[in-house]
Amino acid sequence: MMSEKNSNNIKTPAKAGILGWPVTHSRSPLIHDYWLKTHSIDGSYEKLPATSEDFERVVMGLVAAGYAGANVTAPHKEAAFELADVADTNAARLRAANLLVFKGGDIHAANTDGYGFLQSLRGGADEPEIDKSWSTNPVALLGAGGASRAIIGALVDAGVPELRISNRTMEKIDTLRFLCEGTPTNISAVPWDDRATMLEGCGLLVNTTSLGMSGQPALDMSLENLPDFAAVFDIVYAPLETPLLKAAKLRGLRTIDGLSMLLYQAVPSFSAWFGVAPAVTPELRRLVVTNLEEKS
Ligand code: ATR
Repeated sequence: MMSEKNSNNIKTPAKAGILGWPVTHSRSPLIHDYWLKTHSIDGSYEKLPATSEDFERVVMGLVAAGYAGANVTAPHKEAAFELADVADTNAARLRAANLLVFKGGDIHAANTDGYGFLQSLRGGADEPEIDKSWSTNPVALLGAGGASRAIIGALVDAGVPELRISNRTMEKIDTLRFLCEGTPTNISAVPWDDRATMLEGCGLLVNTTSLGMSGQPALDMSLENLPDFAAVFDIVYAPLETPLLKAAKLRGLRTIDGLSMLLYQAVPSFSAWFGVAPAVTPELRRLVVTNLEEKS
């Protein structure tokens, strides 16, 4: 079928999807399908399984087939950045991309994970929220893997004065220091056994480890040292309420879950491919929550 262009100059039907391995459990199609329907857009979003070996070939196939672009998840975020012709500031800084946009014969790479993280903290507002205690006080962060990088970049952008990072393998923290170079944010590395002590005076605790995810051990730590104004962010979204978030709620602290981050990081992708800025609505959240509950 010949493709047409709509008023936004986007080819219809516009096609996109999520590249990963495995990709079976991705909730991204649910999110983008909801927005396509809400905005009556002639488009599609599909799961695009690709092994590391096949990644480049699959991406080139999508370009040739006229796709608008794709999201990228594990283990391909670094490969996606490498493959791109053009990268936005975030992707270039992290050397990893979760969004590819195919336009003008080029592959454009972007990284929207940090945006998703900050929007979640800000309750979806474009302007920083009134209670900014998380950004004016030290932040405690657990984990030093791939997922921590975009979050550290976002925290640096938000101007947090101090980042206390604890990771089981402490040496890995050194590989993150470059993200703070030339910025006012100071990084300190905290031994894993001292993770509860580092919470003193922190406005925010972020878990970027896989602990607390279904099938993984819980994140075992006392939140006693966190001030009453602190918020707790867990990037894990299956289960939605991790033992960490449960403990934070019991202490009366504000909590932000990984689903919030997943929903907000999808917004710039949808805008880039389909030409409409979609909204993260309570209805969309309920839809994904129901799906997570059914599948867990
Ligand atoms: P991702 O890309 O999702 O961040 P990753 O790079 O494998 O995944 O990182 C997983 C994170 O969870 C790491 O910080 C890891 O700690 P190590 O660097 O010491 O491996 C952390 N993690 C995983 N299992 C853990 C466990 N049982 N105890 C403590 N930390 C753990």
